[in-house]
Amino acid sequence: MIIGHRIRFRAVERGDLPTFVTWLNDPEVQQGIMIHHPFSQAEEENWYEGMIKHPIDEHVMGIEVRETEPQAGEEQWKLIGSLAFNEIDWRNRAAEFGIMIGDKKYWNRGYGTEAVLLLVNHGFNTLNLNRIFLRVFENNPRAIRAYEKAGFVHEGRLRQAEFRDGKYIDVLMMSRLKDES
Ligand SMILES: CC(C)(COP(=O)(O)OP(=O)(O)OC[C@H]1O[C@@H](n2cnc3c(N)ncnc32)[C@H](O)[C@@H]1OP(=O)(O)O)[C@@H](O)C(=O)NCCC(=O)NCCS
Repeated sequence: MIIGHRIRFRAVERGDLPTFVTWLNDPEVQQGIMIHHPFSQAEEENWYEGMIKHPIDEHVMGIEVRETEPQAGEEQWKLIGSLAFNEIDWRNRAAEFGIMIGDKKYWNRGYGTEAVLLLVNHGFNTLNLNRIFLRVFENNPRAIRAYEKAGFVHEGRLRQAEFRDGKYIDVLMMSRLKDES
């Protein structure tokens, strides 16, 4: 577990996959991510079997939010999304990450920013990364704002890199360096 203030990261289990399929088929969620096709349980299981063969630091983690106050007895946690570093470049100590809060009830409540900050802390202070970066669609202001709040700076624009809904959109590159912590 990686424990934050209101959230924690845990390993994704096979039992989580139906929830992921629901999220990945939500058109509003799909707008921000690379998926643009109906996504089946079988495809998700196939993805999962591949993912768990990757190095452990690249495994997708579930984002859970605390549903009870710490002093109010047994803690309860709810899965709201996932995130991961992709293909960590150990020589350059750099990694890209992706995040999805699939449960839309939890959008705009600061959980995305908190999750990015917790992942950044893990990346810099446990994995000893130096550079963490991401790609985001220009028409995803919620995500861009969350990344800016988490200290990411704009560093580039991949012009017309994505084709969506009949038109090309730019993909923005953002990053944060360890010495900017
Ligand atoms: C992107 C995502 C991770 C952000 O998480 P979140 O918990 O909703 O974000 P936060 O609440 O931390 O921050 C969102 C910020 O965007 C702002 N925002 C929301 N909609 C906005 C809009 N249309 N224009 C401008 N700002 C907007 C919010 O007001 C908030 O800023 P504030 O705190 O200054 O008011 C989450 O919404 C998500 O997973 N979406 C679906 C998948 C996705 O797009 N993933 C990212 C791929 S790059």
